[in-house]
Amino acid sequence: MPFSSGVNGSSAAYPAPSASSVQKFPEGFLWGISTAAHQVEGGNCNNQWSDWEAAGRIRSGDSCGLACDWWNNAEVDFDLAQGMGLNSLRLSVEWSRIEPEEGEWNPKAIERYRQMLDGLRRRGIRPMICLHHFTHPRWFEAKGAFLAPGAGVLFERFARHVVRELKDLCQDWVTFNEPNVFAALGYVMGDFPPGRTGEVVTAVRTINAFALAHARAYRAIHEVQPEARVGWAHNYVVFQPANAKSGPDRWIAGLLSELFNESFLRIIEHGRLSFPLNLTNGSLSEVQGTCDFIGLNVYSRFHVSFGLQHASQLFGNVFVPPDVPQGDPGVDKPYGEAYPQAIRAAVKRTAGLGKPIYILENGVPDATDRIRPWLIVNAVREVHSLIQEGHDIRGYFHWTLTDNFEWSEGWRLRFGLLALDPVTQQRTMRNSGRLYSAIVRGNQLTPALEAEYVLPVNSAR
Ligand code: BGC
Repeated sequence: MPFSSGVNGSSAAYPAPSASSVQKFPEGFLWGISTAAHQVEGGNCNNQWSDWEAAGRIRSGDSCGLACDWWNNAEVDFDLAQGMGLNSLRLSVEWSRIEPEEGEWNPKAIERYRQMLDGLRRRGIRPMICLHHFTHPRWFEAKGAFLAPGAGVLFERFARHVVRELKDLCQDWVTFNEPNVFAALGYVMGDFPPGRTGEVVTAVRTINAFALAHARAYRAIHEVQPEARVGWAHNYVVFQPANAKSGPDRWIAGLLSELFNESFLRIIEHGRLSFPLNLTNGSLSEVQGTCDFIGLNVYSRFHVSFGLQHASQLFGNVFVPPDVPQGDPGVDKPYGEAYPQAIRAAVKRTAGLGKPIYILENGVPDATDRIRPWLIVNAVREVHSLIQEGHDIRGYFHWTLTDNFEWSEGWRLRFGLLALDPVTQQRTMRNSGRLYSAIVRGNQLTPALEAEYVLPVNSAR
């Protein structure tokens, strides 16, 4: 999800690979990929994103269509994942298929998800399920979504239903994908439904509502499946003051980080927000401690300067300088600086919660595979050194296996280890897919792999 409003570079110098030794991962380390229902299944036309698309809000003008055709044939990608040696895969279930009208359950949807989970397990791939990845049914949106009274109860009921039906096939559950992204893009930037801009207080209230719904689901899932492991996926962004000597730049970078990175985390950690954000809610104490693991989605660094003309974004100008590593740009915005070191920042920030950590998303939009191999090598290296330092990181899930429908950017941004032609559904393995597979199969990164796959420097776009 592009986040910035500013400059986009045209070329970049990339740090050369420099590993000199084999970096071996612990036995049982999870190597996976992540996906989301709306982005891969195709044919989802009963959620708020299908309305967003019908309203012409996909910037590229694309339609989601069949997406990767998972509803009919996810198995083609499961075979490819198995062939690459992956041992885990994160997918999400589509609430609008399972509960198409309020209180009406669709057994056929559950049956298809059971088939998919069974298919993964038979291929030696451990599934992790996310219950809400940005989409929900129209009827839920019409009620006011998570800001409506009673939303948490409805989400809890959905979570109970799903876990009751699928618990023999899955043990790892992510309640929500990125409440902070949903809130920032939906209420501040206007890039996601409901498309509002500058509503910072509503964004914080949305995060609070997600937190309460998460806590209800966390307890419900444990009631239904005592051995379940439940967490959420937290998007972590590095906000870099454009000028480290400028007080206003440092202040705005700190404020954006507090709002974006810290809010949900603080609620989980302490059961409350810090002042003055805590004025936006009633008690959140029931949320404290409701996670068995921390899921981190980490992609980017954004540079931030203070600017009076950016009043709707709290006077923050969020931009990407031209001379940093970047993937492909969005339709009218840069995606962000490709910054594998953000993994270190995210792990350091969350390690204090004392829970196992999974990197649940990391990737770059890169149709021609210009920098993805570089990104993978550096991300894997970062994870390895954090494990060596004693951090309990249990898995790395790349975003994503096969190019999928990238929200408001449509087919414009390509994140796959495999390229997809959405018309023919033809998949083509990218070089980065071969690299990732070699790392996964060996459970290690070697200097030879780096030398073979990573371009040293200066690959122009
Ligand atoms: C989201 C994905 C998205 C990816 C790339 C993540 O923040 O969870 O749904 O496709 O970023 O933008």
